[in-house]
Amino acid sequence: MEDSKSKPWIPFTANCCSVEDHSICRNFSRCKPSRSDFSKNVAPLPSFRRLLFSDLSTRSNSTRINEDLQQSFGQDLYDFQLSELRGVTQNFSSNFLLGEGGFGTVHKGYVDDSLRPGLKAQAVAVKLLDIEGLQGHREWLAEVIFLGQLRHPNLVKLIGYCCEDEERLLVYEFMPRGSLENHLFKRLSVSLPWCTRLKIAIGAAKGLAFLHGAEKPVIYRDFKTSNILLDSDFNAKLSDFGLAKMGPEGSNTHVTTRVMGTYGYAAPEYVNTGHLTTKSDIYSFGVVLLELLTGRRAMDKTRPKDEQNLVDWAKPYLTSTRRLRCLVDPRLAGQYSVKGAKEMALLALQCVSLQPRDRPKMPAIIETLESLQHLRDMAVTSGQWPVSPKSGKNNAAYYAKGRKESGFGCKNSVVAASPRIKSK
Ligand SMILES: Nc1ncnc2c1ncn2[C@@H]1O[C@H](COP(=O)(O)OP(=O)(O)OP(=O)(O)O)[C@@H](O)[C@H]1O
Ligand SMILES: [Mg+2]
Repeated sequence: MEDSKSKPWIPFTANCCSVEDHSICRNFSRCKPSRSDFSKNVAPLPSFRRLLFSDLSTRSNSTRINEDLQQSFGQDLYDFQLSELRGVTQNFSSNFLLGEGGFGTVHKGYVDDSLRPGLKAQAVAVKLLDIEGLQGHREWLAEVIFLGQLRHPNLVKLIGYCCEDEERLLVYEFMPRGSLENHLFKRLSVSLPWCTRLKIAIGAAKGLAFLHGAEKPVIYRDFKTSNILLDSDFNAKLSDFGLAKMGPEGSNTHVTTRVMGTYGYAAPEYVNTGHLTTKSDIYSFGVVLLELLTGRRAMDKTRPKDEQNLVDWAKPYLTSTRRLRCLVDPRLAGQYSVKGAKEMALLALQCVSLQPRDRPKMPAIIETLESLQHLRDMAVTSGQWPVSPKSGKNNAAYYAKGRKESGFGCKNSVVAASPRIKSK
């Protein structure tokens, strides 16, 4: 189970399920119930064959699925029994609940070699899938197939799976700091410092670059803050490969698929035509950059109409240094590099270009973001951030009142946590 070990990949030939979704579904919806090598330690990306999941009906045949997965992954992934996963999570107790997504609940557990010889003692996150309908099974299988083969420091590690009758579970490495979404938008969370936001952006970018840089590129299709998980040092790892797709082959420029993803993050051309390319992921990356910069959600129905869609609202602010300070997350309280914010804004603007060809590629994005890490021209010390007249110092509580009333001239106020808007 070492990340650095390169194991021969046995093509997955199972007749488990079909994900070749050629139909274009204009009502943008997610079918599940709601929901350059950058490191020397990385195993080379296996060259995939395009997986054909041709027999949907075998969803009930879990024995066959398990045999096929075992044959393909061997010791790379553990095949757990439901009773074992019940045991490690105290019967999926709510005390062990880590979160809940559109697909079901995620529980913390502990595993060690008493469960399987050689299994490292570690905390794990067990995702219990609520697979209503075939799409749930498809996403479970896509997750096992992609994450079972892809290993990179910026992708969450899949440790094993469980397929028993109608039950589908996934067992991941535990990410102690949870999702970026929780850190950015939960009311009680401490604001992430500027340098941590940059670190997270770079980590997530490396994960995406790894996928796009494969011999046969993988399109992630669900890049968003809730799918960026953080370890104890705020290293970012991408999770949730249920919607991932192999990129176009031969002379094809795109893959045509049913439109799935999350409102606010999906590229407009993909939503309108179903044409999917790696540039669709770049658009979503730009949206996440804007969320890091502004502390606002990609889509927020609690805001006034003209502010609900982050990209639409932010665009006019992104090119002017003077206006940019109105856009930067007030919770940063001026503790950010002015030049860094300006560069990040321009990069985000490029990423969310309407024309996919105008969007940069991941290696260029990483280069730009890394060049911002050394900047120390903090807005508060360079006089670009006002000081609270009452306390005489900058603090988030002051900005939480809204800077308009402070005479700062921006209509921005601190972010209110709101239900995430996504298609179900
Ligand atoms: N490996 C993990 N380690 C720690 N916490 C995790 C892990 N995986 C998921 N979580 C927690 O569980 C929550 C739910 O994750 P999940 O992927 O099911 O849903 P989501 O990403 O919020 O929504 P969606 O269904 O649209 O993907 C996450 O926000 C995170 O807080
Ligand atoms: Mg997720």
